[in-house]
Amino acid sequence: MNITVVGSGYVGLVVGACLAETGNAVVCADVDAAKIEGLTRNVLPIYEPGLDAYVERNQRAGRLRFTTDVGDAIAAADVVFIAVGTPPDEDGSADLRHVLAVATEIGKHMTREVVVVTKSTVPVGTAAKVSEAIAANATLPYHICSNPEFLKEGAAVDDFMKPDRVVIGVETDQARSVMAELYAPFVRTGRPIIFMDLPSAEMTKYAANAMLATRISFMNEIANLCEQVGANVDLVRKGVGSDDRIGPAFLFPGPGYGGSCFPKDVKALVRTGHDFHAPLEILAAVEEVNDRQKRRLFEKLRGVLGDEGLRGARVAVWGLAFKPNTDDMREAPALVLIDALLAAGAAVVAHDPAAMPEARRRLDDRITFAETGYAALDGADALVVVTDWNEYRHPDFARIKLALRRPVIVDGRNLYDPAKMRALGFQYASMGRGAAP
Ligand SMILES: NC(=O)c1ccc[n+]([C@@H]2O[C@H](COP(=O)([O-])OP(=O)(O)OC[C@H]3O[C@@H](n4cnc5c(N)ncnc54)[C@H](O)[C@@H]3O)[C@@H](O)[C@H]2O)c1
Repeated sequence: MNITVVGSGYVGLVVGACLAETGNAVVCADVDAAKIEGLTRNVLPIYEPGLDAYVERNQRAGRLRFTTDVGDAIAAADVVFIAVGTPPDEDGSADLRHVLAVATEIGKHMTREVVVVTKSTVPVGTAAKVSEAIAANATLPYHICSNPEFLKEGAAVDDFMKPDRVVIGVETDQARSVMAELYAPFVRTGRPIIFMDLPSAEMTKYAANAMLATRISFMNEIANLCEQVGANVDLVRKGVGSDDRIGPAFLFPGPGYGGSCFPKDVKALVRTGHDFHAPLEILAAVEEVNDRQKRRLFEKLRGVLGDEGLRGARVAVWGLAFKPNTDDMREAPALVLIDALLAAGAAVVAHDPAAMPEARRRLDDRITFAETGYAALDGADALVVVTDWNEYRHPDFARIKLALRRPVIVDGRNLYDPAKMRALGFQYASMGRGAAP
């Protein structure tokens, strides 16, 4: 099939590359000329394991093409995916400007009957607005689909190639059969394609992300309580997660959720609830708990060093990305920690295996960067572990102790064993395991 994907960010690029991988002729279009220029040379704008090989292979085979000419790309398509950003508006609702701009372009430039698939995360009712925007200029028939994307950054290619399920909202049999054909190669192991109406598909994406965010905030509050009552959240987590009704995923305590999706999707769903007079009070609390949790690492460190000790201190930070295997720093807990440290008069030396270019762009010279995790420790008064990259899991503790001026570690991901850390002579604080400092 001839497929055009408009928007070549995390989602658009993965969708485009994976659909090309299964033999389709794919054009990825984006208004960002620098991004497209890089992509034509196989230079990816993001760090996403495995994606570069897909882009390179399919571009070389002529199945994947990149362009800034959105209209031209639409004109050649049987199926157009809309994968542009939906950032939060001032009131928390999803800003649909980019999505509707693309829909207008589709109406203007389509040259044949086309299936239009919204991949961007959009609130209930958006499909109708997309349809209206296309209809304003279209002279040919078109079919609207809502096909929310559930990929996880850091494992995006695998998630797209082997999805747990594919959710597709449709209104016509034509759209249903085109989408079933397109997704057939990805669900050969029997994973379901769940067809539904458009509003239900739009709602499913928000409900899924809101549920995951809720689990995280719930477990973070349980961890904080564990600290007060002398329980160990790691054991509680195992005990709770082995219940089949609950399951083990997304129960790890940490410094709060970040990224491009959970924060904005929770906000947008709260807003939708408000607009439709069906308030989502649980989610308002989830958000508030998360905002508080993002300050927790700073408070733990302050508990050890004190306000005086923080002023003029040098703090090493391991991990800047909002989670491992990505360079995405949108809403990353590390940003909240760094702001708080700088405001308290501390200096920050940071390391991240992938996100340092992005951090340099965001933080400029407000902090310094170290080429390796160990180099960040030289002369530091404490180490704070923010992101659970694999390379931080089994470090050389003797080397850490030698490099640090004070043997203080705040572990935001419970990577290390508290008893071992104490035996090694560290002042060690983690999440929900033992009394808070
Ligand atoms: N990142 C994720 O993990 C993820 C997962 C599932 C769903 N989503 C959703 O997918 C959507 C895209 O997210 P993303 O992370 O890929 O965003 P992104 O910011 O990485 O990419 C969006 C791209 O769209 C381009 N763009 C904006 N307006 C355009 C226009 N009018 N024409 C052409 N290109 C345009 C931008 O230049 C940018 O390259 C969002 O709605 C997001 O909520 C994201």
